[in-house]
Amino acid sequence: SLYKAIQTRLGAWYDVYQRPLPWRQEVSAYHVLLSEVILQQTRVDQGTAYYHRFTEAFPRVEDLANASEDEVLLLWQGLGYYSRGRNLRRAAQIIVSEFGGELPRTPEGLSRLPGVGPYTRGAILSFAYDLPYPTVDGNVYRVLSRLFALTEPIDTTSGQKKYWELAEALLDRKHPSRHNQALIELGALVCLPRRPRCAECPVVEYCEAHRLGLEERLPIKQGK
Ligand code: ADE
Repeated sequence: SLYKAIQTRLGAWYDVYQRPLPWRQEVSAYHVLLSEVILQQTRVDQGTAYYHRFTEAFPRVEDLANASEDEVLLLWQGLGYYSRGRNLRRAAQIIVSEFGGELPRTPEGLSRLPGVGPYTRGAILSFAYDLPYPTVDGNVYRVLSRLFALTEPIDTTSGQKKYWELAEALLDRKHPSRHNQALIELGALVCLPRRPRCAECPVVEYCEAHRLGLEERLPIKQGK
């Protein structure tokens, strides 16, 4: 089937071309939480330095839970959005006090953590636990919009619902971690916002936007 063919091409491409990012080296749910909260609204190169800072200062979730807010916010300096840093510490405290120091393995459990939205939830479940949940960040919205030439805006609630449903349908349920990270990596390295590198794309032959010459016009944002 089409989805199966896309999964196979995408996974094989990721195995070869993925960047050796630090949070892909030691994969624990805590490390995924740290990296994904840091990377919200932060570029990977800048985020990497902060990721190292945090894993050195707080190697285990207990260390972060026991830190003072000032300590956490000092390390957060320069990342902006300080509520994210505060939420991260509060999430660590809940993980320790309510979940025995283990990040939950269910969407419901993860939803009880402040600052953990649908994207981070899906990232933890799939990247860390290899559970069959989709996750959709800005990269994935762009890849899906182009691959299937979807003109549904990516910045409306009803549009986002459609992209999440598509991501769930396209998910490689045998390799959720590899598949979800491959979609993100494709958006970060090949399916770029401007001047996408279609000649290097492992799924270009399945790409509706490319076939129609629409890749630079997608995704559509309604704006407001
Ligand atoms: N941007 C946000 N999360 C990322 C991840 N896990 N890998 C690469 N880029 C990302």
